[in-house]
Amino acid sequence: MRISLGRVRVRRRPDLESAHALSLLEATLESTADGILVVSTDGKITRFNQQFIRMWRIPPDVAESRDDERALAHAVEQLKDPEGFLKRVQELYNDPIAESFDVLHFKDGRIFERSSKPQIVDGERVGRVWSFRDVTERNRLDDLKDNLLTAVSHELRTPLTAIVGFSSTLERWGVTMSDDDVADLYKRLSNNAKKLQRLVGDLLDFDRLARGLVEPKRERTDLGELVTSIARESEQITGRHIRVAADDVVVSVDAAKIERIVENLIINAARHTAPETPVWVRVRAREDGCLIIVDDAGPGVPDDLKEIIFEPFKQGPTTTPQSPGVGIGLSLVARFAALHGGHAWVQDRPGGGSSFRVFLRDEHPTVDLRDAELSNTTSTARA
Ligand SMILES: Nc1ncnc2c1ncn2[C@@H]1O[C@H](COP(=O)(O)OP(=O)(O)OP(=O)(O)O)[C@@H](O)[C@H]1O
Ligand SMILES: [Mg+2]
Repeated sequence: MRISLGRVRVRRRPDLESAHALSLLEATLESTADGILVVSTDGKITRFNQQFIRMWRIPPDVAESRDDERALAHAVEQLKDPEGFLKRVQELYNDPIAESFDVLHFKDGRIFERSSKPQIVDGERVGRVWSFRDVTERNRLDDLKDNLLTAVSHELRTPLTAIVGFSSTLERWGVTMSDDDVADLYKRLSNNAKKLQRLVGDLLDFDRLARGLVEPKRERTDLGELVTSIARESEQITGRHIRVAADDVVVSVDAAKIERIVENLIINAARHTAPETPVWVRVRAREDGCLIIVDDAGPGVPDDLKEIIFEPFKQGPTTTPQSPGVGIGLSLVARFAALHGGHAWVQDRPGGGSSFRVFLRDEHPTVDLRDAELSNTTSTARA
């Protein structure tokens, strides 16, 4: 196949010679969001719009050179399957009146829809019009929606089913049950309701962050005290004993976001490790901010997943496959850290397990280092 970026030539016909028709054609070509390319029957490019040049990232010198071989080589080398593309294009040239549709996958992850129709003038075929539409974002949103629906429907249903079951039992048998059994059911009821509340909270945060609606409301906060109290509450949720060691550091942060960060990390440490696995939480002052560290002695995170798990819906192995989760917890942690000019990452914990770390930037932390040591209870570390 020969495609040429040679001089744009329009076959002159009386109606097309009208300035009006030509200007309409130019304006239409340049106002569409699709990339358009028109190739004559002898393989020469007769028209293209600027969007086509942008989408295919054809460098100005290549476009200027009007060198068909260079242009085509530049275009197809970006595709994951250049041979397949060229083969399908050749088939179309062999069947000049065929219309066709194709999806092109680029090496850099972009996806284009390609359609092609013959250009016919007075019943005579004079060329072929190719149009390319960038559907990368649309595909990403479709995938996001599918993932969200699958994950959320499962994760919402589990605690909801429990809530319905426990409340029906209380309604029917509550008066005949022992006080201890009733108290136990109320506790389970409330735990499941809180689980739902957290999930809905995560989803709302996820949505607001995705739309760029979240601004951190920074206030001077005693971070050690805040993290200690979140850890204590998380002990109730997870049933795990959490050891806390916190520097006395006062930083300017958004306390509600810090709560979501610490809670997500502690719940992860409990969910993705075997029961009784030790969990530690630390707060450390830094010159330009502070560090929150949640360690556990669990299986750790394999090297090839260490970055990926911070992306939405990316999950690794878990010790609780019966409750797979949605896979957005760590993406929220990373985004909340970024809102504070910081970042989140995981590294191996010396001695085994994972060490999740969140750096929050604050140019003027106030530090009162009390030489806190890891302690056996959440409260004594702050004594
Ligand atoms: N402490 C940990 N130890 C080992 N693996 C972990 C730990 N924390 C997270 N992971 C891995 O990282 C993955 C992503 O975590 P993330 O919090 O984003 O999602 P999730 O916990 O699976 O679901 P949820 O949206 O309910 O939080 C987990 O599925 C798990 O494989
Ligand atoms: Mg999680």
